[in-house]
Amino acid sequence: MALKMEEIVSLCKRRGFVFQSSEIYGGFASCWDYGPLGVELKRNVKEAWWNSVVQQRDDMVGLDSSILMHPKVWEASGHLATFHDPLVDCKFCKARFRADHLKNLEVCPNCGNKGTLTEPRQFNLMFKTFVGPVEDDSNIAYLRPETAQGIFVNFVNVQNTTRKKLPFGIAQIGKSFRNEITPGNFTFRTREFEQMEIEYFCRPEDAPRLHQEWIDARYQWYLDLGITKEKLSLRPHDKEELAHYAQSEESTGTTDIEYQFPFMDEPAELEGIANRADFDLSQHAKFSGQKMTYFDTKTNEHITPYVIEPSAGADRATLAFLVDAWNQEEVKPGDTRTVLKFHPKLAPIKTAVLPLLKKRDDIVNVCHQINDDLKKYFPSTYDDTASIGKLYRRQDEIGTPYCVTVDVQTVEEDNAVTIRDRDTMQQERVSLDQVKSYLRDKLDM
Ligand code: GAP
Repeated sequence: MALKMEEIVSLCKRRGFVFQSSEIYGGFASCWDYGPLGVELKRNVKEAWWNSVVQQRDDMVGLDSSILMHPKVWEASGHLATFHDPLVDCKFCKARFRADHLKNLEVCPNCGNKGTLTEPRQFNLMFKTFVGPVEDDSNIAYLRPETAQGIFVNFVNVQNTTRKKLPFGIAQIGKSFRNEITPGNFTFRTREFEQMEIEYFCRPEDAPRLHQEWIDARYQWYLDLGITKEKLSLRPHDKEELAHYAQSEESTGTTDIEYQFPFMDEPAELEGIANRADFDLSQHAKFSGQKMTYFDTKTNEHITPYVIEPSAGADRATLAFLVDAWNQEEVKPGDTRTVLKFHPKLAPIKTAVLPLLKKRDDIVNVCHQINDDLKKYFPSTYDDTASIGKLYRRQDEIGTPYCVTVDVQTVEEDNAVTIRDRDTMQQERVSLDQVKSYLRDKLDM
C-alpha cells in the first residue's frame, strides 16, 4: 500500500517524531520540531554520516563554523548576486509561486484565472538580519544559506593546523537558512534546515576521478543504511540548471542523488555532488586579499585546489529513511500492523524490555536489570502500559528492532527471556547471561 503524506505526518505527530513548530499558536509555516524519537533518528542519520565520511577516513577532518559570517563572504561566494529564485504573484488570489516550477505562466495554478500572474522577478533567498542595536546597512548580516562557505574561509586554518596533503576534505554539519518561496512536502523543503556538507580539496587533474568516486561512495551510503535501491537514482544536472559555482568549463558539473518519495510525482534531490573547481577559493582570495593556495612540497608550486562537494540535507535524508522504512503488513486475516523497518543503526530505540505481568515485582525487577544493562550500550526502553501484544505493535510502529520479554518462566524456571525480531516477528529463547551479547551482536553495537 502506498504511503500518503497525511499518514506519515500523522504517525510522526502521534509517536513523537515530528511536531509542527509553535503548534499552540496555530503553527508557523513550514517549520517543524523533532520530538523525542525524531531527534534520535536524525542524530543517528548525522552520526552515520559523520562516521562514514570523517571517522572512517584518513583524508577527512571535521569543522563547526558559525552561522553568522562577515557579509563579504556572501559577496565573494556569489550568493548576494546570484542566489535568486524567480517569483511570480497572482494578482487575483495573491498566491506566490516559483516561476521555474510552473509549466504554464498564463494560468494561476491556485485560482485558475488566466493572465493574472505577474512577470517573474528575482527574489534573493538569504535571510537578512542586523548585528548589534543599530539597524542600518553597515550592520547587515545574513543567516548562512549553506554551510560550505564556513569551510572555504577556514581552508588555510585547517590545512596549516592538520598539515593534510592533497587530496583531503573538511566535513561539517549545521543549520542553513533559505527564505524559500514555496516550502512544503513536510520536512522536505523548509526555510531552516540542516546540511551535511563536505568540501574535498584536490589537484585539478584529479577532480574528475574524485568527483565520480564521491558520487559512488555517497550513493552506496544510502544503500548501506537500507534505502530501497529501486527508489534511489542519480541524475546529472543539465547545463542550464547548474549552480553558479559549477558552471565553469573546468567543472564536471553536478550529479544529484534522488529518492522517489511516495507522495511526489518525480524523484527528488537528497544530495548534490558538485565539482566547484577553484571557484570559491579564488573568489575568497580576491575578496579578502589573502592567499588561499596550497603549497605542494613535491612540485614546489603553489596551487589553488579544486573542490568536490558532496552536499546532503540531514532533514531530507531523515525523511527518506523514515518513509522508506514504513510498511503496513497483514499479520493474519483482518489484522494489520504498521512497522518501521529501520536499519538498526538508525532506529531511535534499539530494544524494549517488556514484562508479561507488570504486577509481579520479581518480573519487573528483572526487566529493569536488563534494561539498565542494555542502556550502557544503546538506547533501550521499558514499557508496561499495555498488554504484550499491544506493546509489540507500539514498538513495531516506532521501529524498535528487538523486544525482550520477561515472563513467569524466566523467574521460576529457566532464567531465560524471549527475544522478538521486529521484521520476522520470530521469537527466540535466550538465557539471561547471553541477552547482552546476543543483542549487541545482532545490532552490531
Ligand atoms: N553547498 C551546496 C548546496 O547548498 P544545495 O543543492 O542548494 O547545495 C544541498 O543544497 C542539500 O541541502 C540539498 O540536496 C538538500 O538535501 C538540502 N536542502 C537544500 N535546500 C533545502 C531546504 N529548503 N529544505 C531542506 N533541505 C534543503
